[in-house]
Amino acid sequence: MRVNAVIVAAGKGERMATLLPKPFLPVAGVPLLIHTLRSLARSALITRMIVIVAPEREAFCRDLLDSYGPFDMPLCLVQGGLERQDSVRLGLAALDPDCEIVVIHDAARPLITAEIIDRSVTAAAETGGALVAVPVRDTLKRVGGDGVVVETVPRQELWLAQTPQTFQVPLIREAHARALTEGVLATHDAALVERLGRKIQVALGTARNFKITTPEDLRLAEVLLQQGLEE
Ligand code: CTP
Ligand code: MG
Repeated sequence: MRVNAVIVAAGKGERMATLLPKPFLPVAGVPLLIHTLRSLARSALITRMIVIVAPEREAFCRDLLDSYGPFDMPLCLVQGGLERQDSVRLGLAALDPDCEIVVIHDAARPLITAEIIDRSVTAAAETGGALVAVPVRDTLKRVGGDGVVVETVPRQELWLAQTPQTFQVPLIREAHARALTEGVLATHDAALVERLGRKIQVALGTARNFKITTPEDLRLAEVLLQQGLEE
């Protein structure tokens, strides 16, 4: 089974509000993207990594990979697009010709483990598509525009989607092609497969695999990565 990883790092990081986009911010002395690539490289199943970057950051990113690599496997850079979905689609076009399974992962989730990756690959090989997710722990409220609670939403059956999202290659390519021609935009890849009526298997993630979105997230990741808690 040939497995490639697509790592999306072409976002602007508007909610982080730093000059440098998130993947290039230093965390415990090392750029965030490098932490993420090292975590992915621990999976024995992945044989090649495809990093998606904004065109204006390509040269900068190439220098980073040169200084922090090698990563124990071939790695290439591909230019991303305006939306995350565009970036993923461009990455899917660069997979090895014999690639059967693709692991799509956010550069902004450095604390992913090999165990979770491998669980998602196994699930995708069986069902076609897998989504790493965690059950919702807190009580959920629907709140009106006036700040008044409308109702309590039962949290049984509710999960928070993370990445990796892992797929058999023909299936995810078809889902992205259909979304493009039909003008559908989704925040994550599994949704594009769901709309084809195909099954997505959930693979259990961890709270630690959170996405770095705000400066507070960055500080938390720094503490965890400094202590080597990604293991
Ligand atoms: N991403 C991407 N191409 C885009 C948009 C996002 O490759 N056009 C990537 C980001 O770099 C990130 C991941 O998708 O690793 C998840 O997106 P998000 O956390 O929303 O990152 P940003 O879009 O960069 O942040 P923001 O939404 O705050 O601008
Ligand atoms: Mg975004």
